[in-house]
Amino acid sequence: HDLSRIRNFCIIAHIDHGKSTLADRFIELSKIISERDYKDQILDSMDIERERGITIKSQAVTIPYVSGEGVEYQLNFVDTPGHVDFSYEVSRAISSCEGALLLVDATQGVEAQTLSNLYLALEHDLEIIPVINKIDMPAADIEGVKHQIEHDLGLPADEAALISAKMGTGIMELFEKLVKEIPSPSAQEDAPAKALVFDSHYDPYRGVVVHFRIFEGSFREGQEIFFMGSESRYTIDELGRFRIGLERTGKLHAGEVGYFLAGIKTISDIRVGDTVTDYKHPCKEALPGFMDVKPMVYSSIYPVDSNDYQELAAAMEKLKLNDASLVYEKDSSLALGFGYKCGFLGLLHLEVVQERLEREFGLSIVFTAPSVMYEVYLLNGEMIQVETPADMPESSKIDYSMEPYIKASIITPTEYIGNLISLCEEKRGIQKDMIYLDEKRVEIIYEMPLAEVLFEFYDRLKSVSRGYASFDYDLIDYRRTDLAKLDILINGNAVDTLSQLVFRENAAYRARKVCKKLTKEIARHQFQIPIQGAIGNHIIARENIRALRKDVTAKCYGGDISRKRKLLEKQKEGKKRMKMVGNVELPQSAFLSVLKTD
Ligand code: GTP
Repeated sequence: HDLSRIRNFCIIAHIDHGKSTLADRFIELSKIISERDYKDQILDSMDIERERGITIKSQAVTIPYVSGEGVEYQLNFVDTPGHVDFSYEVSRAISSCEGALLLVDATQGVEAQTLSNLYLALEHDLEIIPVINKIDMPAADIEGVKHQIEHDLGLPADEAALISAKMGTGIMELFEKLVKEIPSPSAQEDAPAKALVFDSHYDPYRGVVVHFRIFEGSFREGQEIFFMGSESRYTIDELGRFRIGLERTGKLHAGEVGYFLAGIKTISDIRVGDTVTDYKHPCKEALPGFMDVKPMVYSSIYPVDSNDYQELAAAMEKLKLNDASLVYEKDSSLALGFGYKCGFLGLLHLEVVQERLEREFGLSIVFTAPSVMYEVYLLNGEMIQVETPADMPESSKIDYSMEPYIKASIITPTEYIGNLISLCEEKRGIQKDMIYLDEKRVEIIYEMPLAEVLFEFYDRLKSVSRGYASFDYDLIDYRRTDLAKLDILINGNAVDTLSQLVFRENAAYRARKVCKKLTKEIARHQFQIPIQGAIGNHIIARENIRALRKDVTAKCYGGDISRKRKLLEKQKEGKKRMKMVGNVELPQSAFLSVLKTD
């Protein structure tokens, strides 16, 4: 075991600049996986990641590398996500590394998350290697991007690595560069064992798998360990490295990254950011751990079938193991029974949680309209935090309300400035600054209500700038607002889980959109179904779903019986995902569709 042969680094970049592709190339060249088993995007192992083509989870992997001089290295690297919602994953990955490869797409240049990820890496004193990717593309502007790296990022551009992760160009040179430039971990091997829990996951066959980076001492199978934060004690059953899957080694030393199993039964004992040490010879102080994440958006989730509540409870606990940014507490609704009120980092995070609960745990669930956290001041001087429409006090008791504001930084080619300014103004934005980065690109700074950014803003930003503008944001403060609770009535019944908190001026517009959406989601019944939007007793929007005339199976009469059976089965399958509201069947998709106002 030789520390000077270890390199721990992460790959960071703006979304789509090629991190996962580069990680795949590293793995391919290290030959830890046979060609036969090789498939694209190895590290994006969740189905959702493959389908959407984005990374959601940071993934650690260890590969061997023999340098040109014949020295064998152990490279531990982490592929991180690029989307704004998941920057928390990046900050965690960074804390177990000494270096970072900062990828910049040669056709796109420096974008918003290139900057925000660079700042994260600098805060942690990482050695940063700028890498220009996609040099194979005809539109690659290497000189232009070099200028941006020098000018916008303040990094020496002459030393930037030039690669094509897709074609495999420049990868060997990048390996050589990174083993030379990224420092080896500095760690005391003979000190008491000390490691950071940076992630964990639940394996249905093996139970809780803890991911850790060792800072001091060593860990081995059979060792008694102690989690300093949760004050819990376990014995390590199995321990090893991340290859493709887990590779048992029995022992790991300071500076290394790996996993262990310890027959952990109480899932809440495992906290990301906790320090794990030797039980008999503990280290003195815990590692600093991670900053608590602040959820940006809240929504409640319920099982479609109320009997599944216990299953949902177990699933939430396991999901939390692998997603430290998820926060939740118990909740209940008239229409939907028991569930959880959850905090998410953004709408994409919410969608991912929904999909993971359904795919990994086989649950059918319903989400309520997401909301930011409002501060509502009552006439009696009290302040309450309102995260869901159900928390909203009666309007006669309210003095005034406050909503969270963000500072948004948008980087765009100059030709889209006009479009972006109109979009921001429409979203109640206040322009604060406009900085020309060079002749072709500008950074626009806006202050905007977070609630406006949550819905459709990102998609609109991309569409008005033909995909060229990029965007990043930080929460700044709370400001006065005019808040109203919009209720949705289906066949005269208010459905508590469809209610939304809205800026009063936008209420009528929002209500019309939601009603229209619902007419598309709800199937025709034997009777006409009115769908209405209301604030208090005041109806502000209305649509109708016309009554059904024919029996759906009618067209199969005389036809083949198996076709008819298939149709009925399909309906039954659909029913499982239906929620009855009064005498109307509401499909699960209706709950999410109302959030998307396109
Ligand atoms: P997120 O993890 O979602 O932030 O994305 P990412 O940075 O991991 O990007 P990914 O590796 O998924 O690549 C995005 C797209 O760029 C994919 O379609 C890749 O095939 C493509 N791509 C990546 N590297 C190269 C390259 O060197 N040349 C070309 N032509 N395309 C590339």
